[in-house]
Amino acid sequence: MNAAHSDTQLSPTAAVAGNVATERFRASGKTVNAHLSPEASRARVNLLATRAVRALNDIVLEERVTYAEYNALKAWLIKVGEDGEWPLWLDVWLEHSVEDVATDHRQGNKGSIEGPYYVPDAPELGPTDTIPMREDEEGTPLRFFGQVRSVDGTPLPEARVELWHADSDGYYSQFVPGIPEWNLRATFRVDAEGRFDLRTMQPAAYQIPTDGACGQLIAAAGWHAWRPAHLHLKVGAPGHELLTAQLYFPGDPHNDDDIATAVKPELMLEIAPNSAGSGHQTEYDFVLDPEPASP
Ligand code: DHB
Ligand code: FE
Repeated sequence: MNAAHSDTQLSPTAAVAGNVATERFRASGKTVNAHLSPEASRARVNLLATRAVRALNDIVLEERVTYAEYNALKAWLIKVGEDGEWPLWLDVWLEHSVEDVATDHRQGNKGSIEGPYYVPDAPELGPTDTIPMREDEEGTPLRFFGQVRSVDGTPLPEARVELWHADSDGYYSQFVPGIPEWNLRATFRVDAEGRFDLRTMQPAAYQIPTDGACGQLIAAAGWHAWRPAHLHLKVGAPGHELLTAQLYFPGDPHNDDDIATAVKPELMLEIAPNSAGSGHQTEYDFVLDPEPASP
């Protein structure tokens, strides 16, 4: 059993990981919704906010929520903010549905949630390269190779494969102190046939921080905090929709009950012994949808 599966293991502190995730999100510019007119924007906010408020009121009336429960909710919502855990909460319990809506038209890969720990502009490496890692990086070496193509089968030699993932303790660089800045984060170019063949270290299963508001909810509800081990990817090419995906390892005990509901059957890797070295190897091809023609 991996050490990170033990419940006594220290998890990244909520105050650190949560607040870094909050600051990164603020700096990302993702909240700009410039394509809507002010009128269309108002109509949309009115619709969504009205439905959200109504849904909550329906729960109160149907479940006969008490003042004690209402005040527990108030205290908890205040704590989510204080712990900087809104990005964590939203990415675990809501992003998967937004991702489903955003990608259900695709003929190529549909992808999975981005999560709170993406950092843009990771160092660029060649198509046959090793991700930055510590000299004594622990874990099982992983050779990961494949091809990036368009839905019609054309290889995409201008593609970039961004990879980021947790280490063998389940920690992400830049969100937990003491890990080198770009550890287990890189942007890989592909070759003239759209192929990549890279080396990394298999990540461990990941426990969302348990010492903050999200952990408080999980404990109070009797849930667990685990996500199965996963690789995060963004695969992009000119003229194509950016694919944000995660890939999973067969046999992980949490593939079937991921707290973030972000596992899909087509995202499961096939893992084999590395034919050219130690550890494991896996092959996975990415198929990107062309961007819709602009009107
Ligand atoms: C969270 C962490 C992840 O690594 C991930 O992929 C999704 C969500 C989180 O802590 O919210
Ligand atoms: Fe993750």
